[in-house]
Amino acid sequence: MAENLELIRGEKRAMYHSLIPQIKALVGSETDTIANLSSVSAALKEAFGFLWVGFYLVKSKELVLGPFQGPVACTRIQLGKGVCGTSWSTKQTLLVENVDEFPGHIACSSFSKSEIVVPLIKNSAVIGVLDIDSSDLATFDAIDEHELNELCTWLVTVI
Ligand code: SME
Repeated sequence: MAENLELIRGEKRAMYHSLIPQIKALVGSETDTIANLSSVSAALKEAFGFLWVGFYLVKSKELVLGPFQGPVACTRIQLGKGVCGTSWSTKQTLLVENVDEFPGHIACSSFSKSEIVVPLIKNSAVIGVLDIDSSDLATFDAIDEHELNELCTWLVTVI
């Protein structure tokens, strides 16, 4: 079965509103965690061309690298460390306009300039994070935060 995304260009909110229903259709009734996180990573990377899109999952009190698209990355992140570990400890979405100005930022790629991290919260517990890196400064704003939070709220119901 061919799985092609119909991608539109233009205003960011419209791009999310076009893409997210397609992601939900792509996932369909699948419940496998690796399959679904892989599909979401690939779809966001393909639609927006971000430097890196992927997931870290909480395992044995660490974040461990999960499905991703982009350059190789750090495999383990501790609670409270870096942007990902801080999102985990605070249960907050973090928008970082300039990664060099985030204390303790973990530089997996020297090409990363800005970042957004969204916690995956299931039954009040953080089970992982969605991490997106951009090679441009200040790529992410309240629109990304809103749309990616909606996406992750749905995602935790299918993993
Ligand atoms: N920059 C992240 C580490 C993960 S990579 O960006 C893929 C952080 O500070 O937690």
